[in-house]
Amino acid sequence: MIQECGALRRKEVIHPEIFDLWLECPEVAHQSHAGQYLHLLIKGATGVTLRRPLSIAGIEGGLIRLLVRIVGEGTSALAAVPVGTIMDVIGPLGIPFDYSKVSQALLVGGGIGGAPLLFLQDELIGKSIPTDYFLGAKTQDEYPLDPEEVERRSIFAATDDGTFGSAGFVSLQVNQWLQHHDHAGVRVYSCGPLLMMREVDRICRLYDLPHQASLENRMGCGIGVCQGCAVRVNDGKGDPRGGYRLVCKDGPVFDAMEIEWAVLGESYR
Ligand SMILES: Cc1cc2nc3c(=O)[nH]c(=O)nc-3n(C[C@H](O)[C@H](O)[C@H](O)COP(=O)(O)OP(=O)(O)OC[C@H]3O[C@@H](n4cnc5c(N)ncnc54)[C@H](O)[C@@H]3O)c2cc1C
Ligand code: FES
Repeated sequence: MIQECGALRRKEVIHPEIFDLWLECPEVAHQSHAGQYLHLLIKGATGVTLRRPLSIAGIEGGLIRLLVRIVGEGTSALAAVPVGTIMDVIGPLGIPFDYSKVSQALLVGGGIGGAPLLFLQDELIGKSIPTDYFLGAKTQDEYPLDPEEVERRSIFAATDDGTFGSAGFVSLQVNQWLQHHDHAGVRVYSCGPLLMMREVDRICRLYDLPHQASLENRMGCGIGVCQGCAVRVNDGKGDPRGGYRLVCKDGPVFDAMEIEWAVLGESYR
């Protein structure tokens, strides 16, 4: 974990509420892996004193990509900062995705939860692991990527209302894919809204596929002190006496079998 001052080098608006940002943080970038996140302090932003966790969506040399959806004060302040602004960055934090012994990866993202899976797609392609990426959103206006990037990355796009890509939940596409392909060596990776990840988890259990889920619970300190990000887990075989684990330190990536999905809702978007 490194603390570094990062300058905002590029900023693009994907939709009025979704921004594509590139921060120059060479030391953090050098150590980052897909699934990890930054804890970012927006210096000078009034009223925003706490750091905000944001997934690393990609690395290009010393630049780190972030995809940010405006939901409140911190993300509004971040979207408003001009190129050249220096930010206080801590990272890379958290446990990355594991893709050892995988011969085919299925990535399933929902909305802004697609961000860490972009970096995962880059890493998997770098390792020549066959990868299919399904990314859904409610509508075209909430789709977190430019159509040109969707095409370049060969992403299977879906929107609930059919305004971009296929119509319907992205989990439907995953189910269809599984009905028509061999499952040997397939591992599934998901990040997005709770309902989507629960459905992906249900499908993975049906086909007996390993599934890693990245959780984006509300966080406080980010360093394992406040317990604000605790989630209930089981022992991986369904026994709920597994206790609690912290998204900031033990995650954000978890074996989906260990997550007590039914009680996650209280702290999840
Ligand atoms: C590991 C991790 C990775 C993340 N990666 C990304 C990313 O790549 N891009 C991105 O846009 N966001 C990401 N998030 C979510 C992001 O951190 C929050 O949206 C942000 O901190 C909200 O700050 P704010 O000041 O704008 O909103 P606040 O003013 O703090 O909150 C606004 C509203 O959103 C709710 N809220 C805030 N954060 C969350 C949350 N995590 N879950 C549920 N509800 C929440 C609050 O309760 C409130 O109702 C990630 C979160 C985690 C834990
Ligand atoms: S955010 Fe404080 S313990 Fe995880």
